[in-house]
Amino acid sequence: MKTYRAGVIGCSRMGGFIDNEVVGYARIALPYSHAAGYTTCDRTDLVACADLRADVMAEFGNLHGVPAQGQYTDYREMLAKENLDIVSVATQPEPRAAIVVDCANQGVKAIYAEKAMAASMADADAMVEAVERNGAILNLGTNRRYDTKYDRMKEIIDSGELGDLQQLIIYNVGPLFNNGSHFLDLILRLNDDEPAEWVQGHLPDGDSIIDGDILTGDPEAEGIIQFANGVKAYVLLTGRRSETEAICSLGTITAFNDGSEWQVRKVEPVGLRGRNELQTAAAPVTPPTSSTLRAVQDLVHALDTGQPPRGGVRAARAGNELIFGFIESHLLGGARVSLPLAKRTTRMVRDHTPRQPKYKPD
Ligand SMILES: NC(=O)c1ccc[n+]([C@@H]2O[C@H](COP(=O)([O-])OP(=O)(O)OC[C@H]3O[C@@H](n4cnc5c(N)ncnc54)[C@H](O)[C@@H]3O)[C@@H](O)[C@H]2O)c1
Repeated sequence: MKTYRAGVIGCSRMGGFIDNEVVGYARIALPYSHAAGYTTCDRTDLVACADLRADVMAEFGNLHGVPAQGQYTDYREMLAKENLDIVSVATQPEPRAAIVVDCANQGVKAIYAEKAMAASMADADAMVEAVERNGAILNLGTNRRYDTKYDRMKEIIDSGELGDLQQLIIYNVGPLFNNGSHFLDLILRLNDDEPAEWVQGHLPDGDSIIDGDILTGDPEAEGIIQFANGVKAYVLLTGRRSETEAICSLGTITAFNDGSEWQVRKVEPVGLRGRNELQTAAAPVTPPTSSTLRAVQDLVHALDTGQPPRGGVRAARAGNELIFGFIESHLLGGARVSLPLAKRTTRMVRDHTPRQPKYKPD
């Protein structure tokens, strides 16, 4: 079997060092960073990396075994010289589209792009166009799509034992690009990647960070998403962080604390008159597995077989469309906006200084 040559663009926390932030944290199974995913996967060799910060990249090289001749401050030079099969784009969203387009145009066949996909819908469209025109594939780093805990949630919904899926609830979507991208992707997956027809939203701090077509920050949001199959999602901003619920015609399934605990309730006849009520039922127990490794293995499987990846560039764009749906609805005073959006020029442009990654665990 072929071993695929992998490279990482953006060698900071998610690119190479985030494992050091979560050592001993039972909820996240390692490997977590892209680089650790490639060095753990027995079908990939991490041979090159690129970052504008040479000092951070040198530490990355030491940690992950990429020699100095495989380190580039210009990712285009890396793409031209290294004949890479899989490339990660673990930068912030603002530069992501240009880099992904360059990767696809340079013949990279598999791209593992971090979330949020893109800083505008125009950027997301350019990524879809370049990936598809070049016959490449892309998985977005929305880890819950590759997480066995949430696979189990989807299996229970799909089994029909709770009846038909009717509503999905995200209890705290958080900042849309940073945190919301994860949970919006999760509800897309739980609902079989059905298209969304419309979104209605409110950004509590939106007015202070939107200037014309420019967003100067990552806004929080609350609102409603209507899917084409009739399922509705409620996107909330409550104290229940990382909690998600599916409400079906005959029961509910709830993830507490990002799936470290679960509750399943089923409609049962109770009481003297046999009235139906929701009763607690057996909940799944699924130990954590590395969702980063599974995302890498999914790309390897797609390259081996020619089958589509689990995520794909269109599912990535659908999640980005929900983010911008909330923003456009807010700009229209909370009006319902139809998807796909007609306006694709609104763009996030933050004054972002990259973080200092943690080179060693505590
Ligand atoms: N999936 C997850 O669980 C998860 C967790 C953390 C972060 N993330 C995501 O990962 C991405 C990166 O986050 P971070 O905290 O590591 O970011 P960061 O801001 O600390 O680092 C970004 C890195 O990209 C580099 N970079 C920027 N432009 C570049 C270019 N043109 N060429 C080469 N390198 C370039 C910067 O120098 C920097 O080192 C973000 O989109 C974030 O949302 C995902």
